[in-house]
Amino acid sequence: MSAQSRRRFLKSSVAAASAVFSAPAILRAGTSPNEKIGVAVVGVNGRGGEHIGSYLGDERTEIRVIVDVDEVVGAKRCDAIAEKQGTRPQLITDMRKAFEDDSIDLVSTATPNHWHALTGIWAMQAGKDAYIEKPVCHNVWEGTALIAAARKYGRMCQVGTQCRSSQAIIEAFAWMNAGGIGEVKLARGLCYKRRKSIGVLGDYPVPNNVNFDLWCGPASFTEPKNTRPNFHYDWHWQRHYGNGDLGNQGPHQTDIARWGLGIDSHPTSIICYGGRLGYQAERKDDNYVDAGDTGNTEVSIYDYGDKCIVFETRGLDVDNSEDEELNALFQSTSGNKVGVVFYGTSGYLVQVSYSHCIAYDINRNVIKEFKGGGDHFGNFISACQSRKMEDLNADVREGHLSAAISHLGNISYYMGEKNLVTVDDLAEALKSVKSLDDNQATLQRTVKHLQKNGVDLDKYRIALGPQLQFDPEKEVFTNNDAANAFLTREYRAPYICPLAKDV
Ligand SMILES: NC(=O)c1ccc[n+]([C@@H]2O[C@H](COP(=O)([O-])OP(=O)(O)OC[C@H]3O[C@@H](n4cnc5c(N)ncnc54)[C@H](O)[C@@H]3O)[C@@H](O)[C@H]2O)c1
Repeated sequence: MSAQSRRRFLKSSVAAASAVFSAPAILRAGTSPNEKIGVAVVGVNGRGGEHIGSYLGDERTEIRVIVDVDEVVGAKRCDAIAEKQGTRPQLITDMRKAFEDDSIDLVSTATPNHWHALTGIWAMQAGKDAYIEKPVCHNVWEGTALIAAARKYGRMCQVGTQCRSSQAIIEAFAWMNAGGIGEVKLARGLCYKRRKSIGVLGDYPVPNNVNFDLWCGPASFTEPKNTRPNFHYDWHWQRHYGNGDLGNQGPHQTDIARWGLGIDSHPTSIICYGGRLGYQAERKDDNYVDAGDTGNTEVSIYDYGDKCIVFETRGLDVDNSEDEELNALFQSTSGNKVGVVFYGTSGYLVQVSYSHCIAYDINRNVIKEFKGGGDHFGNFISACQSRKMEDLNADVREGHLSAAISHLGNISYYMGEKNLVTVDDLAEALKSVKSLDDNQATLQRTVKHLQKNGVDLDKYRIALGPQLQFDPEKEVFTNNDAANAFLTREYRAPYICPLAKDV
């Protein structure tokens, strides 16, 4: 079939499907207490397993379809589901078949990032509600298209930022907003999470059981096809498919930072510096070239007018860090630190885990703690039943605004990755960057961390991205045309993610 006729086929099959399913299928499923909500889980190797566990644990749902382009991965999940559920879901390789299935009411997806938006849009066009993992999109304009699809087709679209359902965080923010730590204008997100090198850049076989055309989907084929030793998961660190840790772990913390500060738009100015640093020292090989091409160390600064978010990503060894203030606030001198610090005029609030926040006075004495998790999938299912978008804890628009923080930071980094500078030049450049943070102190802490990991910053320099001005309404950069190309991508037919106006 030619690309054009495949596109026509897809268009007509999706249009036909939406005609059949435009009456809310969930309402149909809810008419009898015995009738369950039919679920299709798409992409089930890692995180998809937790999706499966949640639907198995909710008596309102039945998993009827598993979609995975790796048939071994999919079959294993079907076996396990059959044992627990009593009925075996159908295993499908091409998600479009699942969207034509009348018995499916909602689609829950944990594919790699480059597939998120198209999966969600196709599912909603076919009349299904959609739970989509974070980051909800691989680039900024895909997020806008997802919002348009959810609104146009009247579908519930929840993003997999489960912190939105965390009791600890909800209560901590209510307390902070009532003045618990005074006026709060700055949040620092931390992803200090050890990520080892993914191995030498090479030409590796695609596993036989994987349909590589479908795995790539909207992303073009690359040559060699697979450049990483570990086919699954490690795509996170290749920008063609993933978004680095700023766009992997990051969207949880960028979301919490934005939510806590009460920011309801995009930043107007963004700058990022960093690199994929330290793996040569780790391997004791000056010429070592890793298969990843996203930053493993990044500091990105976002200006929201009177508020500011700073995000720090560290993938090298984070043990025994010498960040005195952060160690105190996280009550830990070693190991990963993943969370958000809110700086108030009379204290700090720190999100230390998915279900724990600690508040301090200005002298860093603990004044309050918040504990408790939540049921993010349960919240989604309830909203699918109520048909009220406002019942969703993480509607797609929230996911889009928060994912965009990661994407915009990465765009500055990608634009500047050849602009390798000395620490002195970087310090000088940061003097003119508007921020509520102490930019110099953050830089010095970052430099110390890199040096401690054996990075010779004269030999392997830090990349400095351009300061990008962004129009939050039009979603375009206003001072850098080349950067606008990164707001979308070149799609490979027929896996074309439409623009918002075309959904
Ligand atoms: N919310 C969270 O806390 C959380 C935690 C971990 C991962 N995630 C997210 O989950 C997603 C998956 O991450 P992972 O670590 O499980 O990745 P993974 O590579 O381990 O698993 C992805 C699976 O998707 C399958 N897949 C790829 N393309 C597909 C397609 N077109 N149709 C069907 N299946 C397809 C792959 O074969 C694989 O089985 C990522 O977006 C990640 O950010 C979220």
